[in-house]
Amino acid sequence: MSRRAFRASILHFLRDPHELPHARVSESYAYFEDGLLVVEDGLVTDVGEYAEHAPALGDTPVVDYRGRLIVPGFLDCHVHYPQTGMIGSYGEELLSWLATYTYPAERAFADLDHARAVAELFLTELLRNGTTTALVFATVHAVSAQALFEKALTLNMRLISGKVLMDRNAPAYLCDTPETAYAESKALIEEWHGRGRLLYAVTPRFAGSSSPEQLRVAKRLLNEHPDCWLHTHVAENKSEVAWIQELYAHECAPGTSYLGVYDHFGLMTQRSVFAHGVQLDDADFELVAKRRSAVAFCPTSNLFLGSGLFRYRRAREIDIKLGLATDVGGGTSFSQLQSLNEAYKIVKLQGDKLSALEAFHLATLGSAEALELDDKVGSFRDGNEADFVVLDPNATPLLRFRMANARGIEEQLFVFMTLGDDRAIEATYLAGERAHAR
Ligand code: GUN
Ligand code: ZN
Repeated sequence: MSRRAFRASILHFLRDPHELPHARVSESYAYFEDGLLVVEDGLVTDVGEYAEHAPALGDTPVVDYRGRLIVPGFLDCHVHYPQTGMIGSYGEELLSWLATYTYPAERAFADLDHARAVAELFLTELLRNGTTTALVFATVHAVSAQALFEKALTLNMRLISGKVLMDRNAPAYLCDTPETAYAESKALIEEWHGRGRLLYAVTPRFAGSSSPEQLRVAKRLLNEHPDCWLHTHVAENKSEVAWIQELYAHECAPGTSYLGVYDHFGLMTQRSVFAHGVQLDDADFELVAKRRSAVAFCPTSNLFLGSGLFRYRRAREIDIKLGLATDVGGGTSFSQLQSLNEAYKIVKLQGDKLSALEAFHLATLGSAEALELDDKVGSFRDGNEADFVVLDPNATPLLRFRMANARGIEEQLFVFMTLGDDRAIEATYLAGERAHAR
């Protein structure tokens, strides 16, 4: 048995601050200014005040991170590893961006060696940014998923991914068929789902690039493997929405929304994650809530591609499961601190505020709930996997100067999400083992 403890300021969430009246918001989290996190065999066994736990430590080694803040590792609920090399591609909106930059970049992932090299760089980048769990798009090529799973297994990361299904409206070099999509996904599920901390997501790219036959194949895979995830895009961009509605006008009942197309094919499950949802209306949000599916909010991507402002407050009012995502390479940063920075501005532009508590909940426990992984990661609940980050309030001269004026943990968190990025991540731990040190 290996047992270790970490001494630092420690914060994690117990529930959603948004559910509580303002006066009781402090019940949503536990904060220990001089705290101790105890880890045994990769799992959290205790968290609390240092003074309270110190007497029982015996000869347990203690890693001293005093002056820093430990929080659960961030989750990235939607990201494309094959787009790492084309992040920051200029000038286009979604559909022309896909055709101009994205599809050509994904072509190279037919080659296993290329996929392995990018997978390694990508996972390193997640860890450098304090992201310990991600729901990840590969490409249409089965070897692209294989390469990512191999590397994540070596790192012992909790990660969900899958081969992309796409059989139309894309270059021939990126298209599979309903039959190959089924056979290749099935083989990958059998090889990878549940191996180490890896999990599988059936991944139709979006309704625009899968035929109705292929969406039926996706449903068949979910029926045969009900503990797998469904991961796709929805209602990101206005022209995309108009195009999808036209594309499915004969297949679905008149007036079916873009999201409704997925529902028509039975693809809205409790483990379905829909990226973006910028153009979803209230009826769509209600359908997401009813099916207990989740939406991944992608702030930097929605701004960069000019997709629009996600209706964050409405989504919270309707109480849908909501995760936070970078959507790299549509998104412009691997840092979930930077996603929160932009999320704050998206909410502000709609006349509202995103509190630091709501924000850090969203990046940790909220995203874990959106991915149905909160019994494993996202908080320091007893028995959870000990994935965490060490945030350094003195990481840069400006952070140090500004933090000196921060009164209390809420303001510190707000400064981290406004000024912080990979530089603020002093260390990242996976299952109690250090996986990144700045
Ligand atoms: N919709 C379909 N494919 C993609 C993609 O690769 N990125 C984004 N942001 N939206 C998409
Ligand atoms: Zn995406």
